[in-house]
Amino acid sequence: MRMLVLGGTQFLGRAVAARAVGRGHAVTCAARGRSGAAPPGARFVAIDRDRAHGLDALRGETFDAAVDVARDPGRVRRALAALAGRVGHWTFVSTTSVYADTATRGQTARTAPLLAPSDDGPYGAAKVASERAFDRDALICRAGLIVGPGDPTGRFSYWIARLARGGEVLAPAEPDDPVQWIDVRDLAAWIVHAAERGLAGPFDAVGPPCTRRAFIDTCANALGSACTSAWVDPAFLDRHGVGRESGPFSLPLPLPDTIGDASRDVAATLAAGLSVRPLGRPPATRLAGWRRPAVPSRV
Ligand SMILES: NC(=O)c1ccc[n+]([C@@H]2O[C@H](COP(=O)([O-])OP(=O)(O)OC[C@H]3O[C@@H](n4cnc5c(N)ncnc54)[C@H](OP(=O)(O)O)[C@@H]3O)[C@@H](O)[C@H]2O)c1
Repeated sequence: MRMLVLGGTQFLGRAVAARAVGRGHAVTCAARGRSGAAPPGARFVAIDRDRAHGLDALRGETFDAAVDVARDPGRVRRALAALAGRVGHWTFVSTTSVYADTATRGQTARTAPLLAPSDDGPYGAAKVASERAFDRDALICRAGLIVGPGDPTGRFSYWIARLARGGEVLAPAEPDDPVQWIDVRDLAAWIVHAAERGLAGPFDAVGPPCTRRAFIDTCANALGSACTSAWVDPAFLDRHGVGRESGPFSLPLPLPDTIGDASRDVAATLAAGLSVRPLGRPPATRLAGWRRPAVPSRV
């Protein structure tokens, strides 16, 4: 295929482009060129989606498939208008943050209620507005927490780094609460697979949920690290000023009020070819190339 990645110079977009190159596709990454470089084997084209004619460098080209990772509905609409009639299959990378109900477990992409769309944000509402710009033949890929090489947030590698240190580990909420994540390489492989098959409609792109006890114990075992978990409730974390999800002095696991975002029913996505690597691969390879976060000193 001739495949266009709008973005393609960092984390997920770059992984998609790399996977597509590996599958033998002719890949174009189109971005400003500020965030990073396209992967080896992909062509880079400079565009600026904030400018009225910012996609002119792609004028006249046709693509069998295109993948867009944009977060801004204006950028999405501008790209769709500029490339109208020249792309066979679109994939829009959205997020599970589009859902209105963050508390109910086991929701599915086709039935869960969405936030009201909003052009100027918050993130999930802007993604809903972006999703609406695509027609029904597009794949709406609602990613959950994306982890792995190149992750700029450290929300997963925090746990690897902390568990590698051993000892008593602060663990939030209930041990049987769910967590869900997707390795960027597995997500990229599925996005390319889905584009090759012309998959359409909304799918949650995240691995099946597991309990946070299993998550922590499996990681610790894979690291050969002796750890015990000290389970604390969210009020304890609030009292001690521990932040949620990301940023300094935070514990990156979802708390009960967002558990709906960590327990999605992904049977349809697995049936559509998503394959997820198991936890517990050799930790040395898992850690290599991952950005090691600073482990908050007091946690
Ligand atoms: N991380 C997670 O856990 C998570 C969870 C759910 C969903 N998601 C979604 O997954 C996707 C992640 O995408 P990503 O990792 O590739 O990172 P990203 O931050 O979405 O990448 C942005 C890309 O767009 C390009 N870009 C930015 N401004 C531009 C402009 N004005 N004109 C042209 N190109 C521009 C950037 O390159 P230049 O700066 O070089 O232009 C970069 O390649 C996003 O859609 C995100 O919403 C992420």
